[in-house]
Amino acid sequence: MRMRVAVIAAAAIAAAAATGVGVAQNQEPIQPIVPPQQVNLGKVELGKKLFFDPRLSKSGFISCNSCHNLSMGGTDNIRTSIGDKWQQGPINAPTVLNSSLSLAQFWDGRAADLKAQAGGPIANPGEMAFSHTLAIDVLQSIPAYEREFKKVFGKDKIDIDQVTSAIAEFEKTLVTPNARFDQWLLGKKDALTANELAGYKLFKESGCVACHNGAALGGTSFQKMGIVEPYKSSSPAEGRSAVTGKDADRFNFKVPTLRNVELTYPYFHDGAADTLGEAVDVMGRLQLGKKFSADENAKIVAFLKTLTGDQPTFALPILPPSSDKTPRPTPFK
Ligand code: HEC
Ligand code: HEC
Repeated sequence: MRMRVAVIAAAAIAAAAATGVGVAQNQEPIQPIVPPQQVNLGKVELGKKLFFDPRLSKSGFISCNSCHNLSMGGTDNIRTSIGDKWQQGPINAPTVLNSSLSLAQFWDGRAADLKAQAGGPIANPGEMAFSHTLAIDVLQSIPAYEREFKKVFGKDKIDIDQVTSAIAEFEKTLVTPNARFDQWLLGKKDALTANELAGYKLFKESGCVACHNGAALGGTSFQKMGIVEPYKSSSPAEGRSAVTGKDADRFNFKVPTLRNVELTYPYFHDGAADTLGEAVDVMGRLQLGKKFSADENAKIVAFLKTLTGDQPTFALPILPPSSDKTPRPTPFK
């Protein structure tokens, strides 16, 4: 087995050396997405159930998947999300796809990682509007959950740490390898058309990669929105300064991933750009002081659409039924 891997690797190196492709493409500012490694399968299965379970919300109506719909690129495709009592939230829901690759979670990075993030929405009055204690009461009252938590974590009582740890483990599996751009990065020269390659060249040479780089084409830094020209928004969000308290961080947002960006409209933290063409135009002008022609814009958009990878697929989890003891949901009023 080991020998076979070595032979394949040697062949790949020889092929790359012969074409010169491997060498050039290793120097790209963007790396291919790697399929999930070393996940705890028990936690993943449990986390998948929790991600889809609306009983973690006060109304019994809203699950993580309501706003991060895995049939729609891990987003809700609306400007700002709708939470408990139909409240329209203040900010656009970023995709959960590939979010494990980001340096921090949320537009302002206020959660260090996926586990720290996952407790937020359950208790957020504008999202799932529950409390951690009530969520645990619900889970503890469902015998099949009680058994599954015990099997996975080996403890008698369910706690919020187990809940967020399982959800985070599931989210680690939500990566999207094998985009056509990744196939090209890995040496398949005909994976991209000339038009898409021209778009990539513009993306690199105009300076987009200064911020949109790494495997996720984003998530590696916080950057100001509106460098050359200010960004006008009706959203109250101030970005990173809400976390650091520093005026210099006002309007600094985590650079969003451009992976699967074809699926994750509308764009920007306020969801104000409906189309990719519009988002590219705004980025060119506000971040780089560059007005792209219609042809250049179309080329960049064509490149961005090559970043759509294999979407996570799995059997829809079947959730265990509530018991007679399960606290009942509180309807919207
Ligand atoms: C009512 C809609 C809604 C629900 C329900 C919801 N989210 Fe979110 N989620 C959002 C919004 C909006 C943001 C961005 C908030 C911000 O940055 O301030 C977000 C951000 C995130 C992020 C950060 C992504 C990034 O790139 O920064 C992750 C991960 C995430 N949510 C996972 C979850 C999980 C797990 C659940 C269920 C426990 C959940 N969300 C429930 C709307 C929702
Ligand atoms: C100086 C850093 C920087 C540069 C340069 C930059 N971007 Fe961005 N980009 C950002 C930030 C920050 C955001 C989020 C802004 C917001 O939501 O307010 C963003 C958002 C986007 C979005 C929307 C993604 C989403 O899910 O909402 C697209 C598309 C995008 N950029 C493409 C580009 C392209 C194409 C270029 C080059 C023409 C470019 N960017 C140059 C920092 C940058």
